[in-house]
Amino acid sequence: MAEELVLQQGHKAEQYQSIIPQIQAIVEGESDMIANLANICAALKQQFDWLWIGFYLVKQNELVLGPFQGPIACTRIAKGRGVCGTAWEQQQVMIVPDVDQFPGHIACSSASRSEIVLPIMKNGECIGVLDIDSEELNQFDEMDAEYLQQLMLMIEKIV
Ligand code: SME
Repeated sequence: MAEELVLQQGHKAEQYQSIIPQIQAIVEGESDMIANLANICAALKQQFDWLWIGFYLVKQNELVLGPFQGPIACTRIAKGRGVCGTAWEQQQVMIVPDVDQFPGHIACSSASRSEIVLPIMKNGECIGVLDIDSEELNQFDEMDAEYLQQLMLMIEKIV
């Protein structure tokens, strides 16, 4: 495994195109799920420096906090609650340009202004989510969703 990431400047498409293969190389060398999810968060944090990047994993019909980078966060989220619980319930990517406009948004950090949440699917079932929060309004769009989906395909193989 490479000891250091090569961090790309410039357009976010170029940043994703640079970081995704590096993440692939990191997870290929390790079989432990938590170790891999932790390094995925760290790599995304280093490349993009978003406020909060983390995983919630479904345990006994709740989302429970998993590996993350950023400020401390809520540990448990019920199905259908907040953006994460909604992504889980609806099994779909949620892009929230302004969290104040999302009914039931769970404000783990008052600094969070926008977010994207992607479900982790395994055998047709949602087993967790990747949650990314930004201090900027309107940070995430379809391009983020597209590139992050590539990561989700990788993650779905290692969970
Ligand atoms: N924003 C999430 C809660 C988790 S924290 O932001 C880390 C939500 O409303 O689902």
